[in-house]
Amino acid sequence: MDDLEAARAALAGARSIVVMTGAGISAESGIPTFRDAMTGLWSRFRPEDLATEEAFRRDPRAVWDWYAWRRERVEGVAPNPGHRAIARLEALAAARGAPFLLVTQNVDGLHQAAGSARLVELHGNIRRVKCLDAGHPAARWAPDEHPPRCAACGSWLRPDVVWFGEMLPEGAFESAAAAAADCGVFLCVGTSGLVEPAASLPRVALRAGARVIEVNAEPTPLTAHASWSLPGKAGEILPALVAE
Ligand code: OAD
Repeated sequence: MDDLEAARAALAGARSIVVMTGAGISAESGIPTFRDAMTGLWSRFRPEDLATEEAFRRDPRAVWDWYAWRRERVEGVAPNPGHRAIARLEALAAARGAPFLLVTQNVDGLHQAAGSARLVELHGNIRRVKCLDAGHPAARWAPDEHPPRCAACGSWLRPDVVWFGEMLPEGAFESAAAAAADCGVFLCVGTSGLVEPAASLPRVALRAGARVIEVNAEPTPLTAHASWSLPGKAGEILPALVAE
């Protein structure tokens, strides 16, 4: 039995499943991964220089415009076969009564667009906007303001994503860690495993005795520890991994 076959069998029979995804799963939808994103217009910035509250306060226009540019890209693309395979995996798990949780570091909302319902967004969602001071959600704002102001309190609007140095959304990491500590199979897709605390989740699963499957275009710090490491594109491997 090759690795793909063995991993497929483990997934099909798992008593419970946690899937964790990173930017790699959305690459085939045309969204550059986080560490490839600083091209063209934005190549002179580093993510660490834009994705912080300090950066926003220093240059609110640049940060708002960068996220507006990314939001437009996200709204113009569709989920790919990798996203759809994960939604199908959730449906198959539900059909046999196996607990399932998807934990994503992505802020693009493509998992929901593909039909995933049981999910935790560790880093927020770029399609949502909230205000800087009070977190008031905003659905509309003046398109000619950079950044616009909150209708409720007048403070600046910002993307509802987690910036470097910020806390994760309340309870998000706790639910993800609890599921990782109690799963039969942990499937880790398209993440470089460089950003904590998300990167610790596969280790939590391994320590708890879960089988860990990694799908990634390149080796990562997890590769040597995974039960099965499947090198390649998520959009090609996941549909094969999630057989009916
Ligand atoms: P990265 O950009 O760090 O890593 C993307 C990973 O996807 C790499 O390991 C690639 O090898 C892999 N990859 C690329 N294309 C792929 C494909 N078609 N199929 C499978 N794998 C592919 O993105 P993340 O790991 O998601 O945090 O980054 C984690 C966090 O770092 C992000 O959520 C963001 C960033 O700082 C915040 O914004 C808080």
